[in-house]
Amino acid sequence: MTAMTQAELKAAAAQQAAQLVQPGMVLGVGTGSTVAYLIAALARRRAAGLNLAAVVTTSNRSKTQLAAVGFKVSPLAEVAQVDLTIDGSDRVAPNLDGIKGGGGALTLEKNVAVNSKRVVWIVDESKVVPRLGGFPLPVEVLPISCEQNFRRFGQEGLQPQYRLTPAGQRYVTHYGNYIIDLAIDPIPAPHGLAAYLDQLPGVVEHGLFLDICDEVIIAHRDGQIESRQK
Ligand code: 5RP
Repeated sequence: MTAMTQAELKAAAAQQAAQLVQPGMVLGVGTGSTVAYLIAALARRRAAGLNLAAVVTTSNRSKTQLAAVGFKVSPLAEVAQVDLTIDGSDRVAPNLDGIKGGGGALTLEKNVAVNSKRVVWIVDESKVVPRLGGFPLPVEVLPISCEQNFRRFGQEGLQPQYRLTPAGQRYVTHYGNYIIDLAIDPIPAPHGLAAYLDQLPGVVEHGLFLDICDEVIIAHRDGQIESRQK
């Protein structure tokens, strides 16, 4: 069998995850190129009669795509709880901890995820790592104290870099904040680093998603689709 392309792998994982969606659910839909295939698969299920109680999402990009295929998107604040959230991830460790935020949507992604009964990630096999790392760790910071936090990260050996747009400007999140990417690889103590970042004034959110994911659907190049569950 010919090895599948990365795009085909993303589509295959998304297609499998779309089958987990049940009528009447409050569904959380994440962000990214893999999730774009999920939305396409959900559109096909909607055309075949799938009705959902509500849909929330984690970015304006996904909101636009969902609206274009006929889903009404509710703000997270308007739903009591999300039944199932399906999202992509940048890296996944064997215990299903992950790094997210490559698309800059980490704050809403984490808020939707922790308010979900079940969280499923869809990835191609390149995202699966033996130890958390292999991808810069995004930290969303308030502009008012970003320079202090940037210096602090440098002093701690966390190798900070401001995320930039293709035009060389600082990337600005949905919430008007900056992202500092930390080039630590591998991350020696993810829970310790998360606790450190969680208590720093000016840090809005970070891309360590620990003890959040319940299932990861991995598309392998040989065509196998694997489900790993907590
Ligand atoms: C966005 C994310 C995405 O889920 C992550 O970057 C994966 O994206 P893709 O499916 O395009 O590889 O965390 O903030």
